[in-house]
Amino acid sequence: MVIASIVMELGIVWLVRAAWIAAILPMLIASIPSSKLTSFHQLVLGFAGRGKILHLSSQKWTVPQKYFAHFYVVGAAWTTLLLATTWMYACKTAPSSSEEFHLSDIASHLTGGSHVFSFHKSHLTPVEHRFKVWRAVFLLVLMEIQVLRRLIESFYVFKYSPSARLHILGYLVGLFFYTVAPLSLCVNVAPEVARFAASLMAEFIAKGKGHTSAPEFDILSALSPLMKLGWCQLIGGVIFLWGWLHQRRCHAILGSLRENPSQAKEYIIPHGDWFEIVSSPHYLAEIVLYLGLLIASGGTEITIWLLHGFVVGNLTLAAGETHRWYLRKFENYPANRNAIFPYVY
Ligand SMILES: NC(=O)c1ccc[n+]([C@@H]2O[C@H](COP(=O)([O-])OP(=O)(O)OC[C@H]3O[C@@H](n4cnc5c(N)ncnc54)[C@H](OP(=O)(O)O)[C@@H]3O)[C@@H](O)[C@H]2O)c1
Repeated sequence: MVIASIVMELGIVWLVRAAWIAAILPMLIASIPSSKLTSFHQLVLGFAGRGKILHLSSQKWTVPQKYFAHFYVVGAAWTTLLLATTWMYACKTAPSSSEEFHLSDIASHLTGGSHVFSFHKSHLTPVEHRFKVWRAVFLLVLMEIQVLRRLIESFYVFKYSPSARLHILGYLVGLFFYTVAPLSLCVNVAPEVARFAASLMAEFIAKGKGHTSAPEFDILSALSPLMKLGWCQLIGGVIFLWGWLHQRRCHAILGSLRENPSQAKEYIIPHGDWFEIVSSPHYLAEIVLYLGLLIASGGTEITIWLLHGFVVGNLTLAAGETHRWYLRKFENYPANRNAIFPYVY
């Protein structure tokens, strides 16, 4: 039984890691500055491009860019399910005292080496285990806050141009992202949470609705462990919030550029907030908020590093194209702006 559970855990962890590596590799190869790779670079851009940076001779194999909303519908439903199940499981495994959590966090970071990038933490103490489960709940709460805001924005803030398109492969990658990203945040507890959910379902089926004991819910014990996590979670949460707020502002600026319906297809130079320093501040903010998630995870889970690597690669590629597009389109484009990383790129 124990061996089966280890195999199951390793299976899902390695499957998710392999998926991230497969998604990162084409971007990594396309970023190598070699003339031999020019056509591969164009191919990757053709698949990853959208809206103003999509260069395709025909609309074959494309979907409207407003289908971006589907990512957040899927992301919100899936993150909510993962969060609700993991949270219920965390409540069942009993909250821990603040001192215990704190000591466990410090110990795991002082010993840094023993846990860093370990793929199966089979020798966790009960306190370390509880800390790991509650940390997954915390990461999923942050993800939920992000996908819900993006869902609202894609319906009420962005005004997609009717001619803006997205390659079907880019669309599938978006669906992949919002399925695998929330899972990556809780992958090291996913097998035990799945077993917990399966046992609840089995009880429900065997006993029927009327005879299944409703799980007791105590708001204090469901929330207090989240307030007692360690410094990494606090610092990561603050960085996440910083990126989240700037992305919200930058999206509001983009949405305000087409207030008049006659401007539905127009592109205008955006101003304000981080737009004063880079061309794609909403992409930079996304990288910052995923960095917050990475720090809040403690940085010991390689799957979350891969998730962050994908976000950086994908958005840096799109930001470079966007910046070149602005420079071609507007003669008066502000010369002090970088593509995505201030003073660097
Ligand atoms: N995590 C990831 O890997 C990932 C991947 C992709 C996107 N995202 C996030 O999703 C968000 C949206 O990404 P996106 O690629 O769709 O952004 P985008 O291409 O900048 O488009 C966002 C919206 O703003 C409009 N817009 C952009 N520039 C404009 C301008 N100069 N004038 C007028 N309207 C303009 C677009 O119009 P059109 O409809 O005409 O294009 C679209 O409606 C970003 O914050 C990004 O970080 C994340």
